[in-house]
Amino acid sequence: MWVAETKEKLKEYLLNRKANGTLALVPTMGALHQGHASLLQMALSQNDHVVVSIFVNPTQFNNKEDLLKYPKKWDEDLALIGGISPDIIVFAPSVADIYANEVEPRHYDFNGLDKVMEGAFRDDHFNGVGTIVETLFTVVAPDRAYFGEKDFQQLRIVQKLVEIRNIPVEIIGCPIVREANGLAMSSRNERLSPPTRQRAGFIHRTLLAAKTIFGTKDALETKEWIKGAFSDQEGFDLEYVEIADVETLTPVLRKKKHSKYRAFIAVYAEGVRLIDNLALN
Ligand code: PAJ
Repeated sequence: MWVAETKEKLKEYLLNRKANGTLALVPTMGALHQGHASLLQMALSQNDHVVVSIFVNPTQFNNKEDLLKYPKKWDEDLALIGGISPDIIVFAPSVADIYANEVEPRHYDFNGLDKVMEGAFRDDHFNGVGTIVETLFTVVAPDRAYFGEKDFQQLRIVQKLVEIRNIPVEIIGCPIVREANGLAMSSRNERLSPPTRQRAGFIHRTLLAAKTIFGTKDALETKEWIKGAFSDQEGFDLEYVEIADVETLTPVLRKKKHSKYRAFIAVYAEGVRLIDNLALN
């Protein structure tokens, strides 16, 4: 497997390859699991070359402790990538290589997509995501880039980023990969005790039930039902639940026939913040 630790080395390496077929980028922060693996597999199946970036991006963390606690699993990550394909190119730059002396996010106008849900609860988070993703797009210049629906709001913001910045890359959204009990895979799941991790399958089951309810009831009633289901579950504290239009991410007041909606949720269990979402129609 080829590993580049600087922008310059990667660019030089890609120079020869780009002439031969399509190039894909899968941005990650490492601590890889089967959710990331599914993105890599999708990228490999649709492209001639795949770059995976591993970079814990400081400007998207509004909480210093969260950044310090972010798991680092370099050897396991390389083993997982190599097991998928030894041809995958790894880009693992340092903070200094990406940001030089100025570890600050750029500021974007995402047309309100960044003001709700994750954006409302995590100040400047999406400016940080936009900054690193735009930098990666500039360095790698991929034909396609792969993002998980696990972070659906992030996926929509990256789509908006390429639109406002006129970046010639196709953004591909990939379905959420779940553990056997339905819990959306995340590197944070390892911080849960085994019994809580098992019980956390309740989050997905609740969203599935909410989908049925949303078939006949309005968004407000559906949201209230979800809140009620969580108030019965000791140890699971709902931070927010929202039912939003997938295009604008604005909360639904009244359902429209041709609009698509998703339920979005953030929950604390044992101090670990878990997010999930589900298409409702
Ligand atoms: P990270 O959390 O490492 O996730 C990298 C990619 O994997 C994201 O596109 C995320 O949506 C996807 N992913 C994570 N868990 C998944 C799951 N269970 N099923 C499907 N896809 C999943 O998201 C980031 O890193 C960063 O914000 C990044 C985009 C790399 C910018 O720093």
